[in-house]
Amino acid sequence: MRTREAVLPDAEQIHALVAAYSGDGTLLPRSLAEICENVRDFVVLEQDGRIIGCGALHLYGVHLAEIRSITVDPVSQSGGGGRRLVKALLAQAEKHKVSCVCLFTRIPEFFAHMGFTLANHQDLPDKIHKDCYKCPRLYRCDEVAMIRGQAPAFAILPPPKNWLKIQA
Ligand SMILES: CC(C)(COP(=O)(O)OP(=O)(O)OC[C@H]1O[C@@H](n2cnc3c(N)ncnc32)[C@H](O)[C@@H]1OP(=O)(O)O)[C@@H](O)C(=O)NCCC(=O)NCCS
Repeated sequence: MRTREAVLPDAEQIHALVAAYSGDGTLLPRSLAEICENVRDFVVLEQDGRIIGCGALHLYGVHLAEIRSITVDPVSQSGGGGRRLVKALLAQAEKHKVSCVCLFTRIPEFFAHMGFTLANHQDLPDKIHKDCYKCPRLYRCDEVAMIRGQAPAFAILPPPKNWLKIQA
């Protein structure tokens, strides 16, 4: 089992892996076009030449990156693949000198094993501006925010136009 940076021919398999867990809301849905466009964010997990897992690191800036779309094929879970993916994505963050890696999850225990600690959603305005304001679960989010590193002191994404309305 090994991880490597994804390349475009992996996009369809990444799409299938993510789709298997986006129907029930475990992962955010990602279209094939979106995966192709952002394929350089992805790391894949391979075993015997077959892709059995993937994860992405979205870069907001040196102050923040986010682990997204992380999954291992159900038949290959519990074999250390998820941990390998997180390590590979953290190595990418380190390469880019990112000071904080965040994620939103319903399985905090898994990420706590890898040095992530609980955070407030409000501590991650870039993530909120990018995804949360258009999420149907905005007011009843059941995901936990976690960070590894120093919580960012600022955001670079501008708030959406209807931000004040959302906060009211
Ligand atoms: C989460 C996921 C990627 C973990 O992959 P995996 O290959 O099964 O994980 P690993 O075998 O590397 O497990 C590493 C450690 O985390 C623990 N762990 C694995 N899944 C866990 C879970 N759902 N909850 C809590 N702990 C978990 C393991 O017990 C293991 O602990 P250990 O090292 O003390 O034995 C995989 O279960 C998955 O694809 N789940 C569905 C998609 C999903 O929930 N993604 C996360 C969205 S934020």
